[in-house]
Amino acid sequence: METTSISEKEIVLVILYTSFFFIILAVVLIVFFFFSRKKIIQKEIEKKDSEITHQKELLKAVIETQEAERKRIAQDLHDDISSKLNVVALNAHLLTTPNLSANELQEIKANVIALTGKALENSRKIAHDLLPPVLEKFGLDAGVEELCMEFSSAKGVTVSYINEVTFDDADTRRHLHVFRILQELLNNSIRHGKATKMTVSFIPNGEYTKCLYTDNGVGFDETNCAHQKGLGLKNIESRISFLKGSLSFQSKVNKGVNVEFIF
Ligand SMILES: Nc1ncnc2c1ncn2[C@@H]1O[C@H](COP(=O)(O)OP(=O)(O)OP(=O)(O)O)[C@@H](O)[C@H]1O
Ligand SMILES: [Mg+2]
Repeated sequence: METTSISEKEIVLVILYTSFFFIILAVVLIVFFFFSRKKIIQKEIEKKDSEITHQKELLKAVIETQEAERKRIAQDLHDDISSKLNVVALNAHLLTTPNLSANELQEIKANVIALTGKALENSRKIAHDLLPPVLEKFGLDAGVEELCMEFSSAKGVTVSYINEVTFDDADTRRHLHVFRILQELLNNSIRHGKATKMTVSFIPNGEYTKCLYTDNGVGFDETNCAHQKGLGLKNIESRISFLKGSLSFQSKVNKGVNVEFIF
């Protein structure tokens, strides 16, 4: 009778301990799950936050560039067009002056012709800077070829260009981003890298296009804060994100730069 009651007690105790153990285990698991979930969510929030900050920076760069570009266009229009047209207007008024000598008349006419010619040439230059006509008329391949040739002849450097891709001419808006990226890379190579040789190539990459760009300039240490991204590199990033492409930018001191982007 005694032994039965002890064994029953023991059984109850075992059941109690086991239940207690499982309850503790369940609580530990729930707490663990809760905290790890919280950590994951926190990490996701941090990732999203840094993405948003990055997007904000890119947007700021775009707006700042737009403002700088507007200022430059306003200056160009003011200095190269308005000022010339002002003098043309003055000369035209002079033509209404009575009793002008033949010589004076000749001088005024020559002035008007020279100034309108200059204003016309400048307006063409401004329009060309805004949207290179060859890019619009003949597409990216011709546009980049002309860009490389312009740099080669105007800046005394060698820019080699190889293209193995046939571009869709209807894609001008996207192609303008590619063109501007290359324009910035070439400008940086000359301004900062003091490069003498640059290469630009387009090669097929599945359904996308890969663009490879190199220069033989002084390069820079990407980890050095002194070479922080300026508007130029930030704009390249935002153009790549408009193109839904990807970018890899590598540079080392005295090793030039190596840029690869897919679009
Ligand atoms: N090809 C290059 N060779 C050497 N250094 C470079 C090159 N490209 C960029 N850098 C470095 O990276 C920095 C950032 O370039 P980024 O184009 O963003 O700005 P920036 O050219 O100084 O100004 P911005 O383009 O806005 O007129 C440069 O100041 C320079 O130190
Ligand atoms: Mg730059």
